[in-house]
Amino acid sequence: MLAPLRPDHRELLAARETGRSLPAPFYVSPEWFQHDVDEVFSKQWLFVAAEAEIPEPGDFVTVNFGTQSVIVIRADDNTVRAHHNVCRHRGARLITEPRGATGTIVCTYHSWTYDADGHLTYADAQDSGFDRKCFTLRSVHVRTIAGLVFICLADEAPTDIDEVAEIVEPYLAPHNLAQAKVAKQTDIVENGNWKLTMENNRECYHCNGHPELLNVFFPIWGYSSTDTVPDRLAPVFNRYRISTAELTEVWDRYGLPHRNIFQLDTRPTGFHIEREAMDLAGESFTLDGSLACAKLLTDDLPERKLGRVSMHLQPNMWLHITSDHGLLFSVIPIAPDKTLVRTTWLVHRDAVEGVDYDLNRLTNVWEITNQQDADFVALAHQGISSPAYLPGPYGPSEVLVEAFVNWYITTLRTNMGVAAAEPGTAPMDMGSHMAGKAAAS
Ligand code: FES
Ligand SMILES: [Fe+2]
Repeated sequence: MLAPLRPDHRELLAARETGRSLPAPFYVSPEWFQHDVDEVFSKQWLFVAAEAEIPEPGDFVTVNFGTQSVIVIRADDNTVRAHHNVCRHRGARLITEPRGATGTIVCTYHSWTYDADGHLTYADAQDSGFDRKCFTLRSVHVRTIAGLVFICLADEAPTDIDEVAEIVEPYLAPHNLAQAKVAKQTDIVENGNWKLTMENNRECYHCNGHPELLNVFFPIWGYSSTDTVPDRLAPVFNRYRISTAELTEVWDRYGLPHRNIFQLDTRPTGFHIEREAMDLAGESFTLDGSLACAKLLTDDLPERKLGRVSMHLQPNMWLHITSDHGLLFSVIPIAPDKTLVRTTWLVHRDAVEGVDYDLNRLTNVWEITNQQDADFVALAHQGISSPAYLPGPYGPSEVLVEAFVNWYITTLRTNMGVAAAEPGTAPMDMGSHMAGKAAAS
């Protein structure tokens, strides 16, 4: 039973003013948090793991948000499966560990046992007529794209994931993430609403707060020409244009797609993908921009200086890939004011720590950046929790923030059957792709 939509919240959802941050209840109220779990995280495609986290049959991770829990496991045929983490006997949670490896999934309550495909293989002391085939684990939609694992808990998942995969795979697949290994994974719990985490990630207006990242990361998001770039960023923008011209020749030589594709709020599985130059040595996310891992992700791309592929996917992921490593981020809501940010560093499967890479050098720029971002998100949540908060305007460099919020509002309106107060303010026609369109109240 989904939580009903309060009349005042229905009004807020219908009347959201574009170009401004959301009213406070969206960020702080427990009811909206539940709507986000029910209507966004339980119905959209979610990024939950790298294939490299579960390289062998029986390897699993569990994904938890709200009351949902899902087992993502590699089956004997090497495909990735996903099942609700709920025993078909009397409902006990099956796996409580965040990750591990298992030959079979055994319920600790009465020992019902399942294989990685979810089939019930053992149930003790049943009548002769007991049919194990009737008690297979409830499966969850799962989709891998170039080494990234996505799940969707809706009965009918948004169908546009196929179109999205077709567009992004040519960008991602050349970097061989499916064959990579995990060098490190960190979990940070940010003291803020998950939407503030996503909004913060969608702009570099705050990037003066990231002096380490700014060594190599051109903070020019939202600016399309020298006319709109502020004076303080003009030298950076000039270096960016020169580097981009040089790298475009390299990308074309290797057949690497580099068109900036922006479909963040024009489809159910909104995304943005681009290939961008990086500053200084332009090779990796290190303080001087030089490689962090001497063994590149693939022998097929022997260029050290490739810039980065960056992708955002609504509602919960972003990534960066350089020639030497992949950097994946997933966002999982825990509470209205608590959000898990998981960061995964991937390197070539044969890269050796201490030989090909120093782990601290590989991870420190983004570990520092993640903490700085966590601090920004906590400050934002604190301020928004005050009765004095009023929604404020997005500037030109916050265009991706607006795209995220617009996608979020349109997704909620579609899934909860709420019309925009002013017809035409929602540009997406997501109807034919959306799952679970039933109104919740
Ligand atoms: S609840 Fe799992 S075996 Fe009984
Ligand atoms: Fe940031």
